Amino acid sequence: MGSLASIVLAAGKGTRMKSGLIKVLHPVAGMPMIAWPVAAARNAGSDPIVLVIGHQANAVQSTFRGATDIRCAMQEEQLGTGHAVACALEALSGFHGTVLILCGDTPLLRSETLTAMLEFHRDNQAAVTVLTALMDDPYGYGRVVRDVSGRVSRIVEQKDADPDEQEIREINSGIYCMDSEFLSANIREIGNDNAQKEYYLTDLLAIAVRKGLTCLALPTADADEIMGVNDRVQLAEAARVLRRRINRSHMLNGVTIIDPDTTYIDNGITIGADTVIHPGCRIGEGTIIGEGCEIEGNVTIMDCLIGDECHIKAASVLESSKLGEDVAVGPMAHLRPGTQLGAKVKIGNFVETKKIVMGEGSKASHLTYLGDAELGRNVNIGCGTITCNYDGVNKHLTVIGDDVFIGSDVQLVAPVSVGHRSLVAAGTTVTIDVPPDSLAISRVPQVNKEGWRLKKK
Ligand code: UD1
Ligand code: CA
Repeated sequence: MGSLASIVLAAGKGTRMKSGLIKVLHPVAGMPMIAWPVAAARNAGSDPIVLVIGHQANAVQSTFRGATDIRCAMQEEQLGTGHAVACALEALSGFHGTVLILCGDTPLLRSETLTAMLEFHRDNQAAVTVLTALMDDPYGYGRVVRDVSGRVSRIVEQKDADPDEQEIREINSGIYCMDSEFLSANIREIGNDNAQKEYYLTDLLAIAVRKGLTCLALPTADADEIMGVNDRVQLAEAARVLRRRINRSHMLNGVTIIDPDTTYIDNGITIGADTVIHPGCRIGEGTIIGEGCEIEGNVTIMDCLIGDECHIKAASVLESSKLGEDVAVGPMAHLRPGTQLGAKVKIGNFVETKKIVMGEGSKASHLTYLGDAELGRNVNIGCGTITCNYDGVNKHLTVIGDDVFIGSDVQLVAPVSVGHRSLVAAGTTVTIDVPPDSLAISRVPQVNKEGWRLKKK
């Protein structure tokens, strides 16, 4: 096996997306669209991968910052796919082997398909191999023209095709394998004498044929895979196909997904066996979920680490948080970034947390805000408790020791602390530190004015 490089074309704007954002950076199943074909090329063994960039070049480039196998080539003016590849060749000077050419807008392409194509290309010692597909409606694509004996003779674009050629159902996917020597020797021979006045990469096929070199077309079994995304309708279709693939692999790994059609799990998420995921959930941004968890309906989990046997109840939102084992959250709870919950913690309905550490076995079961706080073990937070963490300028810390009982409707005006085993009575506003083993109570004494209503009338 020789060495392998790839060129990914991504200089175009993607006008039909009608977006301020370049097409190839639109996210699909948790990655920018272009990251999918790049991953396929990488998994097929390609190094380096040259991205041809033009529109929003900086944004595309920074998407791959730190990736040592990525090189970028600038195409200032988009003069056609042939011109785009010519721009990439400088970044491949000194490279000898096979060059894969892909488009940045084909997120469904799998590395297995690329590997099969490469094998076919190399086994047949071809100069050029193009991946093709048979389409019922080939409109818009380049068509593969074959001679009477079935050999590929050229590709003709929709806008240049005569009525007979327009009947051809075998289309060009825009994915090719080419011998690097052939590519660099012939790329300059491409002209722009065609309907669009563009340099068509596809002209290389006719050039190879004219020179008596082997030029092959390999029809793919799954036409879905080469689907190019041009507008937001196709973006949604591509996302659906990827979602199915992702969900399928989790299910095969032992995760129960009650309704895969309405479960949105991004690429690169880890979920342990025997975890059950109910409909309407979104899970993304590198989340790791342990074994035997139950994630009820309409839960959103982004960038979280969740231990085994956790129970996340309906409609909760979890962001950048860490949960130990056997933690219960929700329904309708909001864990904001920096929440760290120890084993067996219970967070109930309408509880919001932010930047807190909560020790093992502690509970906040109802209607509470805990922000910028450190809570020990076995703390009970009563209904309606609020950490008043913000004075309008700065955020302040609340510290609560082990085995503390906070009654209902308590405000903890930070910075403030409550020592181990203390009890804060319901309705208290805590403004000074509570020592350990104490009772804190601050209430206006109650007055009953008897007969008051009668006098009013
Ligand atoms: C191209 C093929 C067509 C094939 C189709 C498959 C040519 C001439 N035609 O047509 O046979 O059926 O793909 O989807 O190649 N790009 C650049 N710089 C340019 C022009 C394009 O980077 O100067 C990039 C685009 O951003 C895009 C890709 O190349 O990612 C394809 O270009 P596009 O103009 O969409 O080609 P098609 O007309 O679809
Ligand atoms: Ca009160």
